[in-house]
Amino acid sequence: MADKKAQLIIEGAAPVELPILTGTMGPDVVDVRGLTATGSYTFDPGFMSTASCESQITFIDGDKGVLLHRGYPIEQLAEKSDYLETCYLLLKGELPNAAQKEQFVSTIKNHTMVHEQLKSFFNGFRRDAHPMAVMCGVVGALSAFYHDSLDINDPRHREISAMRLIAKMPTIAAMVYKYSMGQPMMYPRNDLTYAENFLHMMFNTPCETKPISPILGKAMDRIFILHADHEQNASTSTVRLAGSSGANPFACIAAGIAALWGPAHGGANEAVLRMLDEIGDVSNIDKFVAKAKDKNDPFKLMGFGHRVYKNFDPRAKVMKQTCDEVLSELGINDPQLELAMKLEELARQDPYFKERNLYPNVDFYSGIILKAIGIPTSMFTVIFALARTVGWISHWQEMLSSPYKIGRPRQLYTGHQERNFVGLSDRK
Ligand code: CMC
Repeated sequence: MADKKAQLIIEGAAPVELPILTGTMGPDVVDVRGLTATGSYTFDPGFMSTASCESQITFIDGDKGVLLHRGYPIEQLAEKSDYLETCYLLLKGELPNAAQKEQFVSTIKNHTMVHEQLKSFFNGFRRDAHPMAVMCGVVGALSAFYHDSLDINDPRHREISAMRLIAKMPTIAAMVYKYSMGQPMMYPRNDLTYAENFLHMMFNTPCETKPISPILGKAMDRIFILHADHEQNASTSTVRLAGSSGANPFACIAAGIAALWGPAHGGANEAVLRMLDEIGDVSNIDKFVAKAKDKNDPFKLMGFGHRVYKNFDPRAKVMKQTCDEVLSELGINDPQLELAMKLEELARQDPYFKERNLYPNVDFYSGIILKAIGIPTSMFTVIFALARTVGWISHWQEMLSSPYKIGRPRQLYTGHQERNFVGLSDRK
C-alpha cells in the first residue's frame, strides 16, 4: 500500500517523488525503484537500511524482541507445535488441520531416504573434512540425482523439491557425521518422529539400536523450530539471490549452507563453544570481555549481538529454558553452562554491551544443549542448516510464486578511470 510519498531532491535535477510503502506490521519503506530515472542509485553496504523484498513469512520486531512466523509467536510455536507442523506453516501460510498434517508428515516420510548412489559421493571427502564443507557439496549434488523435480517454473516440481529437501536433510546430516566417525551410515526410520529419527541416525549403529529418549527428541525438535526461519538474514538472502537467476533449488540451498557457515551467522553456535573452551574458567571472563571491547582486537563475544534484535533474542529465552530441561533430564552439571551464565551476567552489566544493546542471541545456548545431547561441536552449524532449510525453501518458493527479477545490485565505483594498457617492458 502506498499512501505517503517522499521527495528526493538531487542538486541540479528535478525533485523525484518516491512512494512510501506500508506493510501490515513494521517500518514503512521508501520505494526507490523510480530512482534509476535520475541516473543515481542508493548506497547501502550491508543492507543496513534496505528491504530487499516483500515477504509474508516471518516478522521480527528487533526492539521489542518479537519473532512471528505467519503471525504466530515463536514462543507459542516452540511450546505448542512441532517442527513438521511449523514447516507446513512456513511453506503454506497456515497451520494444517489434522488431515493435512497427517498427509504432510506422510509425504515427508516418503522422502527420507537418499539415492543409494549418493553414499559413494562421500568417499571423495577426507574423513576429517569440516561437516559444513561436506554438506555444501552433498546438498548441491542432489541436483545431479533428482532430475525429475528441477523445473523451477512448475509449482509441482517446486513442491516436490521442497519436500525432498526437508525430508533428506536429517539423513544427509547424519550421514556426514557417520562418515566423519568411520561408522556405517544408518537408514532413516519412518516410525519415529522427525527429530527422533535424526537422533537415531546419528547415534545408533547397525549392531546396537537404543531407544531415543522422548525428552531429547522433544528438545531436538524445539531446536529445529527455533532455527526454522528468520526473515531476510544473510543465508536466506543468498538463497533468494541464487534463486533469482533461475538456479535449481538444490544449488540454491547449497548456496544458503555456504552463507550460513560463517561465524557471524550460523557458525556462531560452534564458535560459542570454542570461545567457552578458550575462556576455560570464570576467573578469565573479565579478560575476554575486555578483549571483546578492545577495538584493536578482532575478538567478539560469540553468541552476543544481532543485526535486528536490539533487545533479548526471543529464541534465546526459549533456548535457555530448553537447556535447563535437557541438562536436568540428563543429570548433567555442565561447568560450561555455569561459565556461560556468568559471562552473560557480566557482559549484560557492562556499559559497553548495554549501550550497544548487545544481548545473547539464539546461538548462545544452543551449543550447550547440543553438546549435552552428544552432538559434536563441528556438527552444530549442520543442525542449524538442517532446520533452516524449510525457511530457505519457503522464501525461494515465495519469490518464484510471483513475478520477480534477477537480483543484481549496483555499486559505487572507486577504482581507476579508463587508462591505456601498458606493455610489460614499459611497466615500472
Ligand atoms: N562482541 C563485542 N562487540 C560487539 C559484538 C560482540 N559479539 N557484536 C557487536 N559488537 C559491537 C560492534 O563492534 C559495534 O561496536 P561500535 O559501534 O563501537 O563499532 C557495535 O557492537 C554494533 O555491532 P555491528 O557489528 O555493527 O552490528 P552488526 O549488525 O553489523 O552485526 C552481528 C551483528 C551478529 C554480526 C555481530 O553482533 C556479531 O558478530 N556477533 C557475534 C557473532 C554471533 O553471535 N552471530 C550470531 C547471530 S544470531 C544467529 C544468526 O542469525 O545466524
